Amino acid sequence: MAMAGWTPRRWRRRRADNADRHGDRLSCGSAGAAAALPLRIFRRRAFAGQTAAANLADLAAVRLRQTVLRDVATVDTATRLFGTDLALPLILGPVGLAGMAARRGEVQAARAAAGAGIPFTLSATSICPLDEVGQAAPCWFQLYMVRDRDFAVEMLARAAAQGCGALVLTVDLPVTGIRWRDRRSGLADPGLAGRLRRLAQALGRPRWLADVGLAGRPHALGNIATMLGPAAGMAECIAWTAANMDAGITWRDVEWVRARWDGPLIVKGIMEAGDAQAARSAGADGIVVSNHGGRQLDGVGSTARALPRIADALGGGLPLFVDGGVRNGVDLFRMLALGADAVLVGRPWLYALAAAGEAGVARMIGMMAEELRVVMALGGVTGVGQIGRHLIDGWRHAPPG
Ligand SMILES: Cc1cc2nc3c(=O)[nH]c(=O)nc-3n(C[C@H](O)[C@H](O)[C@H](O)COP(=O)(O)O)c2cc1C
Repeated sequence: MAMAGWTPRRWRRRRADNADRHGDRLSCGSAGAAAALPLRIFRRRAFAGQTAAANLADLAAVRLRQTVLRDVATVDTATRLFGTDLALPLILGPVGLAGMAARRGEVQAARAAAGAGIPFTLSATSICPLDEVGQAAPCWFQLYMVRDRDFAVEMLARAAAQGCGALVLTVDLPVTGIRWRDRRSGLADPGLAGRLRRLAQALGRPRWLADVGLAGRPHALGNIATMLGPAAGMAECIAWTAANMDAGITWRDVEWVRARWDGPLIVKGIMEAGDAQAARSAGADGIVVSNHGGRQLDGVGSTARALPRIADALGGGLPLFVDGGVRNGVDLFRMLALGADAVLVGRPWLYALAAAGEAGVARMIGMMAEELRVVMALGGVTGVGQIGRHLIDGWRHAPPG
């Protein structure tokens, strides 16, 4: 379902304009998203945005090697994770409030991912509740550790009932990062001033107002609202989440979740080799090297630099995921070459969703697949398993990081 007025063709043209102006790295419509969205969720990053910028810059600095005459007539981007086949090693990562980017946005994105043969991860702080998304398309579920353990138990039961293929436990948010921009946008302000600011932003985007603001209701954090009751609006849900985030979380809580979740457990938000090893010891089946897209600790290093260290420390044995700054199939290839088994993206699908709904997300995934296939061919490999550090220029002499 494309957002009113945003046909895939129009979005593609937007994307092309964006490409011309910015020397394109984006396989998605950030220009379209900027035009469509009233709330500035596409700009959200912590503090000065240094880590968000480092994710992009360090990844772009990874130079690839080109090898020729290797018979790349057939290139296969497929991979297998937790016993399931994926069309490419790409996962739509958890993005809170994505349902504000398009009408019932998480449902649209989950459908696009399913159609493309890759997993979609529903954020704990989604607009659409887990049941609504799970009934529309298969999904993974992401959980934050909240003080209210009954809530966690309830969400685990729901995720199991929906047949979620994996649980992503995000551990890099014991407290929310410094995000002054969010305060200025009025998103989390339950008072009159916040309401007026949100209204003013919405009025400036009449298409969004009709398609999402009015037709896309209810606008609460679906999973939290089920706890707080039907009267709870967005601001109340955000306030509950902030008040309930468990800053006392330790590895014992990971074990606590492990004991209550039978499926694959992926710990997200690891930036240190020692933490990766601790996650494995606590029972994780996978790890996401992530700095939350630069939205938490501003100043922490990029994921492109952390990934090889962590891959070396783990030495294989459990799936290694990464996110942060991946904007196209070249970046995806770079992360695989640095040691990832699969890659998550956040902003790319959020922007594509805002620009053109389900069709936009499907198009974004299709473009990344196409780009990955070309990069693999030009790198001289025909299968994802053949991608490694030998395809990074100068690796032996000057490893990144
Ligand atoms: C607007 C926004 C909301 C996010 N919400 C969540 C969330 O609810 N849970 C979570 O684990 N990560 C969340 N993230 C982090 C992403 O899952 C991911 O780590 C990050 O976006 C990757 O970087 P990228 O945006 O450069 O791809 C969010 C990121 C953004 C940009």
